[in-house]
Amino acid sequence: MLDIDKFLAASVKDLEGISWYEIVSKLGLLSFNAQGNKPMELISTIAHITEKSTVLVVGCGAGGTTMHLAEVTGAEVHGIDISPESIAIAKELGSKSSARDKLHFQIGDARDLSFPPNTFDAVVTEYMAFFLQPDTFCNFLLALKPGGSIAMAELMKDPNVDAKANARILATEETYSELLGYKFHIPLSSEYVDWLTRAGFKQVNIETKISPPSFRERLDSVGGWKNLFKIIKVTLKLMRASKDLRKKFMQMGRVKRVISQQRSTAKYIFQAILVGQRPLS
Ligand SMILES: C[S@@+](CC[C@H](N)C(=O)[O-])C[C@H]1O[C@@H](n2cnc3c(N)ncnc32)[C@H](O)[C@@H]1O
Repeated sequence: MLDIDKFLAASVKDLEGISWYEIVSKLGLLSFNAQGNKPMELISTIAHITEKSTVLVVGCGAGGTTMHLAEVTGAEVHGIDISPESIAIAKELGSKSSARDKLHFQIGDARDLSFPPNTFDAVVTEYMAFFLQPDTFCNFLLALKPGGSIAMAELMKDPNVDAKANARILATEETYSELLGYKFHIPLSSEYVDWLTRAGFKQVNIETKISPPSFRERLDSVGGWKNLFKIIKVTLKLMRASKDLRKKFMQMGRVKRVISQQRSTAKYIFQAILVGQRPLS
């Protein structure tokens, strides 16, 4: 979902010197996942999220899909993100949602959760676990009630990736880490399964692969042709006006090409839903 008016209103002064995700959120892009709400809907079905559930969404960003989760399931949903700017936008959006009484957004760090143990029926991540170290999954296990589920819609790498493609992907991850100011790494699908299992989750499984969005879906996710042209126009204007923003947009373009566009590398990277359960005892 894209709030095009916010996008058009953003000025160089608003955007320089803040983090990449804050820039994108300020530009009005409320979901980073080009698949829109589809992964969150799959998660709600796979993790049996209902109006009786209490859910933690880690790294919720500006909250677009977290809000959708609360709206379609009626669950009590807590969204946390390390970015104060993104949480401010999520709170503003959430206050206008039909599920506003069920939505709770706060600044928070996946590596140091502030919730008591045994709180949640489900812990959810979407497009953020590429920032996590394996030991963080122990925090998620403790935050869950016994029998609770973890469900992650994440990018992962095919374990059969060839050496040349892998080297290009790793080099691109370095560029992206530099742009973000913290480490970005897409793990192998087998590494995710291993990490969750070691953290103590049972029934760890790559439940379903999500096919890449079609051109139509990508276009819809930015609100159609008219919005796309407006976005390109504003982006070019911002790039002309600021060296800092120009560098960031160009770095991001290179990352996108390697991860999702160039067949030689992108064919080894896919989005899937990974699930696991906290054992009952
Ligand atoms: C690619 S965005 C995805 C946002 C949202 N889940 C979505 O799909 O639209 C990744 C988010 O993870 C957040 N993030 C990164 N490290 C984090 C951490 N240690 N704890 C909480 N959030 C984190 C970033 O601030 C950013 O908003």
